[in-house]
Amino acid sequence: MIVLGIETSCDETSVAVVKNQKILSNVVASSQEIHAVYGGVVPEMASRAHVQALLPCLDQALQKARVSMKSVDWLSCTGGPGLLGSLLVGMSAAKSLALLLNKPIVYVDHVLAHAFATISHYKLKKYPILSLIVSGGHTLLVKWSSPTNWQILGRTLDDAAGEAFDKVGKMMGLAYPGGPEIDRRAKTVHQDRFVFPRPMMKEANWNFSFSGLKTAVLYQIKSLTQDHTTTLSDDTIAELSYSFQEAAVDVLAHKALRCARETRCHSLVLGGGVSLNSRLRARLQAESTSRLSIYFPPLSLCSDNAAMIAAWAEVLVRASSSKRLDAKMLGYKAYSVLQA
Ligand code: KG4
Ligand code: ZN
Repeated sequence: MIVLGIETSCDETSVAVVKNQKILSNVVASSQEIHAVYGGVVPEMASRAHVQALLPCLDQALQKARVSMKSVDWLSCTGGPGLLGSLLVGMSAAKSLALLLNKPIVYVDHVLAHAFATISHYKLKKYPILSLIVSGGHTLLVKWSSPTNWQILGRTLDDAAGEAFDKVGKMMGLAYPGGPEIDRRAKTVHQDRFVFPRPMMKEANWNFSFSGLKTAVLYQIKSLTQDHTTTLSDDTIAELSYSFQEAAVDVLAHKALRCARETRCHSLVLGGGVSLNSRLRARLQAESTSRLSIYFPPLSLCSDNAAMIAAWAEVLVRASSSKRLDAKMLGYKAYSVLQA
């Protein structure tokens, strides 16, 4: 089965072709440079960038995969969550193609697709599997009992992990997105000078909270700069980056590992942009044992991409004998299959 995927939920436009879980192409165009000037994603500009990038991405994806639009069996597209205008661009494109070519279309959940990308990449078959999804907008612990059955065990009560990285980066005057920059600067430091709080780390639930940690960094910056009357030196920015990252990674790793143990999952898979973080990778990889294997997505599947959308869509489509998927099965009640 050949599935074409479209992803436009935030600032990456992506089109991919997947056949029997093999990624034939995965073309990604990012509008991050446009937003960097403003210190965050500007929704209207993101939508316009999607309109410009989508058709060239579609052409390239088909060419790289060496398939024609006619040979595509199913169309798939991110149905949410994401920026409304951006989602509309992808969904309108998918719907137009579906009508034009008389192909069925399925909308899938972007956040869960992040986790499934790792499950599919490593061809994991032994369930239950625990996934920690850490992206710019979401932080979730999800237990999968099969590719079509999952249970959300915990989520952030306020900021997402990536959002906290980006906001702390902005407070220190770093370029958007702050996550990669904090990761890079923290590497030059080896001592936890500020020791920030680890919110909810020891609580007996699977939820997260990052806004208190972010505020602790803000107060530290205020005190170091005498209420923003002086600027931070590069060395202090590196130390703040290190201490913030240690606290955030500590909470994520601690909770995910305890959750995996208590829910008797033998695999922990990571997904989402923050899974690129080198400290999170090192910390979790060190905890990999014969009883718990830890899997990180390959770099090409960490950030937003359409391969994860098409790969999960293919599995969902196969699982539905009638080819009329149950909306609940797709994770988002609003998503339904349109038989064009
Ligand atoms: O999954 P993603 O590409 O987009 C969303 O669906 O949100 O995640 C983007 C997030 C941003 O917040 C970015 O700062 C973060 O991933 N990120 C990182 C790193 N690389 C990207 N956070 C920490 N360390 C990194 N190396
Ligand atoms: Zn994402």
